[in-house]
Amino acid sequence: MSCSSGTTEDNLNDKDGFVTDADVAYIRERAKGVVGGICCIQGVYMDEKRQGQGYVGQAACWDDKYIPGLKRLADAIHEEKAVASCQLMHCGRVGAVEVEYCHGPSPVPQRLRIFRPVQVMTKDDIKRCVDQHATAAERLCKAGFDIVEISGIVGYLISNFISSYTNKRTDEYGGDIRGRMRMVVELIQAVKKVIGDRPLGVRLCSDELLDDVRGNTPEESMITYQIAEEAGADYMSVTLGWQESIYPVISRDIPQGNWLFLAERAKKHIKIPVQMAYRLFNPAIPNKAIGDGKLDFWEMCRPMIADPHMPKKVLEGREDEIRPCVACNLCLARLFRDAPMTCYINPVCAHDHDPKFHITPAEMKKKIMIVGAGAAGLECAWVAAERGHEVHVYDKLTEVGGTLLEARKAPYGDEELYYQINFAKAKSDKAGVKFHLGIEVTPELIDEEMPDTVVLAVGPKYIKGTAPGFDKPNVVGVLDVLAGKAKVGENIVVWGNKKPGVGVALYLAKQKKKVTIVGRNKDFAIDINPSFRWRYNAYLRQNGVTVYNDCDIVEITNNSVTAMTYDGYQIPIKTDTVVCTERAPNQDLKNAVKDLGVEIFEIGDMVIPRNLSSAVHDGYKVGLRI
Ligand SMILES: Cc1cc2nc3c(=O)[nH]c(=O)nc-3n(C[C@H](O)[C@H](O)[C@H](O)COP(=O)(O)O)c2cc1C
Ligand code: SF4
Repeated sequence: MSCSSGTTEDNLNDKDGFVTDADVAYIRERAKGVVGGICCIQGVYMDEKRQGQGYVGQAACWDDKYIPGLKRLADAIHEEKAVASCQLMHCGRVGAVEVEYCHGPSPVPQRLRIFRPVQVMTKDDIKRCVDQHATAAERLCKAGFDIVEISGIVGYLISNFISSYTNKRTDEYGGDIRGRMRMVVELIQAVKKVIGDRPLGVRLCSDELLDDVRGNTPEESMITYQIAEEAGADYMSVTLGWQESIYPVISRDIPQGNWLFLAERAKKHIKIPVQMAYRLFNPAIPNKAIGDGKLDFWEMCRPMIADPHMPKKVLEGREDEIRPCVACNLCLARLFRDAPMTCYINPVCAHDHDPKFHITPAEMKKKIMIVGAGAAGLECAWVAAERGHEVHVYDKLTEVGGTLLEARKAPYGDEELYYQINFAKAKSDKAGVKFHLGIEVTPELIDEEMPDTVVLAVGPKYIKGTAPGFDKPNVVGVLDVLAGKAKVGENIVVWGNKKPGVGVALYLAKQKKKVTIVGRNKDFAIDINPSFRWRYNAYLRQNGVTVYNDCDIVEITNNSVTAMTYDGYQIPIKTDTVVCTERAPNQDLKNAVKDLGVEIFEIGDMVIPRNLSSAVHDGYKVGLRI
């Protein structure tokens, strides 16, 4: 199977576009992972004025002074025996982080207000931009890159020229699809001229998903592929969607393999190799697609943010050890907010250069008792065991997974969250962790076992409110509802507007129940990052869930709930069941064992109830510290 690590902006470089140690280490790990495949670094910007720059930590390539830094990246990739690829990326109407105006073909205002106003490019600007691409490509060759790629995705400059939504020009760079492709053709030809026989790849949209603003039709997109091929592109990286599109493309609610039909369609229109990423996380899916002739190259972006060695593990038959991306889009949310990349479930991501994040042998071997086999406990277990400790994991349930055993039942892709448990369990088993399931840990048991260290990962406490009626039998807990153990009626109030509340509300709404969320936070789902939260906004509406934020329950009766807004406005809601989703720290076992004189660590939701990410990061860090 042919694979490539997809282009990934990481915001790890310095504010002037020079490559940093953090970026080199990040890329080196991904180069190790592609085992001789293609390792593509982020898209570089190419103009001194920085109109094309889309991210504060984006690498630059507008001057020879950037060559030594870029060479470090190409060298690192070659040292790991992979093929080095670099992208030229002018961010167009979503660029210009440091400049007041961005550049584009026409002054069409952006739908997302976070971007700078568009200044129309003159023909001289276009010519300059083409030259900048060519000279930057020359520099990349000097730096040692084997492949050059041109990025024309999600609303960046090239896509702005191609799309009927943003290109309203009446000169030769506008008009029909050939006119709108003219600049791309000039770019391809100019870059080809300077890179010799190195391959030139192009990333273009196969479907812009911009019908509501009169973007290109899929037929026009296929014509762009043919024109790029005629102009000299050596491979096509199939992409889809725009940042300004209202359709989801890569979040967890999109099933894996959903977009393969677009690669298949591209293959019918062009002869050059076709590669594609976009929710191809499970290797069996691209493997089959390649076998069936629907795809030539498996490209991966987020799967290799989450696990830099993913393809290597596939080749070595260690698929169970792949740390699976959960498609939460936190990585993207961070980039869009000028923060360096991190990953929700990979604590080492973007810290690859920092020895403090690496697993090294423990100085003193200890016997460790971990209480709780949820995400936090399991993560801590395998890390500590790999360091040489004797690790015992206890759980009162007979199955590992903790909260996720039930939380995975929420709709729109949450079952993928549980893959993190499978990963940590497989790592634990291989590292020799001993499991004691179906056993409730008591102070007496700890005393008997005499561990050197106890790690408490017991999860949160699920709480009820203090208003009259919370003690009624029609008030039930979120986990019992998801487990199917609690009896629920037809009109339900969910108490709590964070992710557990939203998840169970959608779970019940999908069963055609009438659901209302009453939550104390000012906004719903504040614990979900904005790059995924907008999906929940849509799903709550689509499923007819009413949401009252900044509000609390002040009374529950057998058939109603009274909610009250922060300013005293009372809302009566017809209800037969109240589902409690609020959580609190859980200190019970800690208080019971703290006098035993044993070293204690606390991790995950028992400290402060948060999310899967915090559980994994806590577990990993404490696993390193013991
Ligand atoms: C954090 C992040 C950074 C990205 N940076 C780039 C980039 O610099 N250039 C580019 O063409 N695409 C970029 N992309 C898009 C990816 O290359 C890829 O097409 C997309 O994430 C879908 O693939 P996946 O499902 O394997 O993540 C980025 C995506 C993410 C999540
Ligand atoms: S932050 Fe989320 S989407 Fe991004 S790589 Fe990590 S798990 Fe995947």
